[in-house]
Amino acid sequence: MDNVVIMDHPLIQHKISMLRDKNTGTNEFRTLVEEIAMLMGFEALRDLPLEEVEIETPIETCKTPFIAGKKMAIVPILRAGLGMVGGILNLVPSAKVGHIGLYRDPETHEPHEYYCKLPEPIEQRTIVVVDPMLATGGSGSDAIRMIKDHGGKHIKFMCIIAAPEGLKKLHEDHPDIQIYVGHLDRELNENAYICPGLGDAGDRIFGTK
Ligand code: PRP
Ligand code: URA
Repeated sequence: MDNVVIMDHPLIQHKISMLRDKNTGTNEFRTLVEEIAMLMGFEALRDLPLEEVEIETPIETCKTPFIAGKKMAIVPILRAGLGMVGGILNLVPSAKVGHIGLYRDPETHEPHEYYCKLPEPIEQRTIVVVDPMLATGGSGSDAIRMIKDHGGKHIKFMCIIAAPEGLKKLHEDHPDIQIYVGHLDRELNENAYICPGLGDAGDRIFGTK
């Protein structure tokens, strides 16, 4: 699939395996989500534009590359996406952070919107949308639509685990965005949970039930 990158780095795979373990507690889970987001971000941001800036080294003056513009926005889908923000901010501390609030109805599994605040000018920013789980794809697809409705153009979507159904939907609904997946899992179960997955990401990050 064009515009879809499935991660194969052993460090990412190892940390995702640790996340899946039901005996991994909240504190360790949170740390792992942040570390995986940083490792994935390293790959997803490899096309950030550079500009040559003149500086003085102790030896001589030279032109050397810096990230151009610093106009990046990280947009977590609440709640679970919040767990990934710190990892990307470690890489790009100057990034602004927007928020999109969506929850899945437990019966219909349809996403419901409850919050949207994006840093302006959103149309000039590289936007990295983060959510650990892409299950049916409903939340991810709606979040991208909301960002596009606000004028967002250069959009990347990053998730730690995806189901084939969700990846297909997101790619078909938004073929123009770049999608980064930590691991592509087998399938969804009858409750639209990812198998083998890791359970409810929001509950595991925040220690709720
Ligand atoms: C989870 C997850 C995604 C969504 C994925 O959030 O973090 O946002 O489900 O499912 P989908 O692809 O089928 O839409 P949830 O709705 O449980 O909210 P929470 O993060 O507040 O727990
Ligand atoms: N949301 C989660 O947190 N986990 C799943 O497996 C599916 C949706």
